Amino acid sequence: MIPKVRKAVFPAAGLGTRFLPATKAMPKEMLPLVDKPLIQYGIEEAIHSGIHNIVIVTGRGKSAIEDHFDVSFELEHLLELRKKTDLLSIVRSVSDMIDVSYVRQKEALGLGHAILRAKELVGREPFAAVLSDDVIDAEVPCLRQLLDIYEFYGTPVVALMEVPPDQISAYGVVDAEKVSHVGASGGLYRIRHLVEKPKAEDAPSNLAIIGRYILTPEVFTSIESIEPGRGGEIQLTDALRHMLRSRPIYGLKFEGKRFDAGDKLGFLKATVEFALKRHDLGNGFREYLKSVQI
Ligand code: UTP
Repeated sequence: MIPKVRKAVFPAAGLGTRFLPATKAMPKEMLPLVDKPLIQYGIEEAIHSGIHNIVIVTGRGKSAIEDHFDVSFELEHLLELRKKTDLLSIVRSVSDMIDVSYVRQKEALGLGHAILRAKELVGREPFAAVLSDDVIDAEVPCLRQLLDIYEFYGTPVVALMEVPPDQISAYGVVDAEKVSHVGASGGLYRIRHLVEKPKAEDAPSNLAIIGRYILTPEVFTSIESIEPGRGGEIQLTDALRHMLRSRPIYGLKFEGKRFDAGDKLGFLKATVEFALKRHDLGNGFREYLKSVQI
């Protein structure tokens, strides 16, 4: 029987240099998209995909993340006194949302290294990994789409999207063969090879890995086996390439729209689109945008 995915790991110990100076003293994962921090979108995606057990890998200066998912007695007390019941339920729902554990990554030595820090908390079971600066707007949560594939094949699955040549060198890129699978309307691929941040002319395809993964516990052994790669970091892509020697890995071209909210332009695009979709803000914001001289 294929073991169930019960846990999701959120690596959140990166330096966020693309968003300086905002990220000098504030974690990138706490940047608000309309009125919720980025990481909350990822956590809600996990919950809507059936995963409630969350492991967050934090680093120096990231305590705002822990505070956000903690109970805030003073704030709740004040809102209660002021009879602000709507706000009180919003604040409570955040801390009630998940069963969360934290582990530290003392130095930002790469995404693979960050995931390895979660080894003890994950144990010998499959898990999801979510990079919360990739915000995905999808009818069926992206993680749920990946889980459907995992639950069929029982092997790791990564989220793929097509990327134009001038941007491909920012991603892990796959060489993959399309396989037919009922229900995977975007396209399911069996990965042959992966390359981290190739030059456009060396990229094996235009299919890039984005920040959603279903991994099996063997990934920890692979991370432990590899040497630091590009930028001196322990890369998850390198660990996946190592894993490919012993098991198949699938890539799903998911249905939905992904925003790179860890990048300033991507963040602005996400803000506009998410604000326009809001029942309470959309109309007013649309009217405002129409009035802006572009
Ligand atoms: P990024 O590639 O976005 O790196 O990491 P970064 O350091 O956060 O940001 P920039 O590129 O300097 O602006 C992808 C994800 O992996 C986590 C990040 O927190 C982010 O969620 N990460 C990365 C770690 O947890 N530890 C690391 O050592 C590196």
